[in-house]
Amino acid sequence: MLPSTDFTTTNAFKYLTDHYIDIAPKSLRELFAADPDRFSKFSIQFEEILLDYSKNRIDDETIALLIQLAKECGVKDAIEAMFNGEKINATEGREVLHTALRNRSNTPVLAGGKDVMPDVNAVLQHMKEFSNAVISGEWKGYTGKPITDVVNIGIGGSDLGPVMVTEALKAYKNHLNLHFVSNVDGTHIAETLKTVNPETTLFLIASKTFTTQETMANAHTARNWFLESGAVEADVAKHFAALSTNADAVGKFGIDTANMFGFWDWVGGRYSLWSAIGLSIALSIGFDNFEELLGGAHAMDNHFRNTEFEQNVPVILALIGIWYNNFFESETEAILPYDQYMHRFAAYFQQGDMESNGKYVDRNGKVVDYSTGPVIWGEPGTNGQHAFYQLIHQGTKLIPCDFIAPAQTHNPVGEHHTLLLSNFFAQTEALMNGKTEEEVVAELKAQGKSEEEIKVLAPFKVFEGNRPTNSILVKKITPHTLGALIAMYEHKIFVQGIIWNIYSFDQWGVELGKQLAGKILPELRTEDDVTTHDASTNGLINQYKAWR
Ligand code: F6P
Repeated sequence: MLPSTDFTTTNAFKYLTDHYIDIAPKSLRELFAADPDRFSKFSIQFEEILLDYSKNRIDDETIALLIQLAKECGVKDAIEAMFNGEKINATEGREVLHTALRNRSNTPVLAGGKDVMPDVNAVLQHMKEFSNAVISGEWKGYTGKPITDVVNIGIGGSDLGPVMVTEALKAYKNHLNLHFVSNVDGTHIAETLKTVNPETTLFLIASKTFTTQETMANAHTARNWFLESGAVEADVAKHFAALSTNADAVGKFGIDTANMFGFWDWVGGRYSLWSAIGLSIALSIGFDNFEELLGGAHAMDNHFRNTEFEQNVPVILALIGIWYNNFFESETEAILPYDQYMHRFAAYFQQGDMESNGKYVDRNGKVVDYSTGPVIWGEPGTNGQHAFYQLIHQGTKLIPCDFIAPAQTHNPVGEHHTLLLSNFFAQTEALMNGKTEEEVVAELKAQGKSEEEIKVLAPFKVFEGNRPTNSILVKKITPHTLGALIAMYEHKIFVQGIIWNIYSFDQWGVELGKQLAGKILPELRTEDDVTTHDASTNGLINQYKAWR
């Protein structure tokens, strides 16, 4: 059972409310000037990941009070409850055990009294044999040719993780061409099918439930396309595999159970890249590298479970997020990787965070009167600098940002990486320090501007600064480090959900739209005018029918 404390009633929350009044007017410049130890005090190194959180609007007392908040909200017990397989996803009556999928120490993990590790290991073994056979060319298509292309058909958690990781680890990629089809818009599958050959293509139908409308529509289209190429039913087994918890539906679709890679209802969709859903990753970078990814996440799991909150990377990140979300009333958080390979990282955690903590009902079933999960967004640097950073620097909104960069690049091209990193360091410094009026005036004078011109221009060129950032510097983006980074954010989201007293592992909010689409679909199949909805929806549907 998870605790169900309203965090706004804790002592720590009361103290933090007062403390906020002291901190809010202080600038980061002042805070740095007042404490020469700030960097060493407010940074944590875990393996080859350095988290510097010193450029935040915090002091010693802030961290102490935030840790007290975590303790009063029972975060420690909640962590144990998750790792020990309690049914903490109470609204769905499920355990939350993605950590078991990457439990490389192989110690027993119980779900409903049963050790899940033998099943986890059996699926991993199946994934290993299958991916090795496909990569080596031993697995042949229906005309005897080896596989050249893999198309993963899935959406949400059955797409975003595999896409993000295969992109982030492209430097480790083998000869197989990976494609991902998610959107029910026929353009997505049509454009993909134009680029592949049925004789050498393997389709992975990735769906936890195997009922998701988009995925099933794309899967049937792919199957028809395959059969129209001259292949027969019996050939489907060589070209279609299923990654799912729903063996019955997989069988009905016509996929051989020998080609089914199972997982379990204690794996949330947005936490499933570590499961059979990661088969496209194993195919893209090889099974050994997939295991490295699991190993990195496992190392972060151990750190999260066993480290005091003061030195606990996910806990500290979670608490800083709460500080801005609930005291500074920030609405969004940006994730800004200075690594082109990580270009889908923010998109991945858009689902990870927003589907987990986008909830307004607490664990007591009451509507909350405080803010919960933030809007997550971001793009890689330096592209973002030329797009939206203006608003982060000089806009009216406070946007806490995570800057992530590798010290070593996989592509040492000329001076590119040094240029990239100079921007990474410069942005957080600029966001923190801004530019004072004196500095602006001196700069304009040096450019030979007149007193009058300086007076007009100066207000626009002043940056107040004091914009908070975390810097996450890693040695290199390897499968191990990436695994650890992903697990770090997963656990951050978990801690925040515990403190906000919400259920982070269900997603009922997504259901309403799905239900309504199911009701509207038959209405679109006829030519009759629709009158069953509100005036706007009727009007739109009827105009669509007139134009189609
Ligand atoms: O969008 C809701 C959701 O249930 C996600 O949580 C999930 O990742 C996605 O749909 C896909 O679901 P499935 O893997 O069952 O097809």
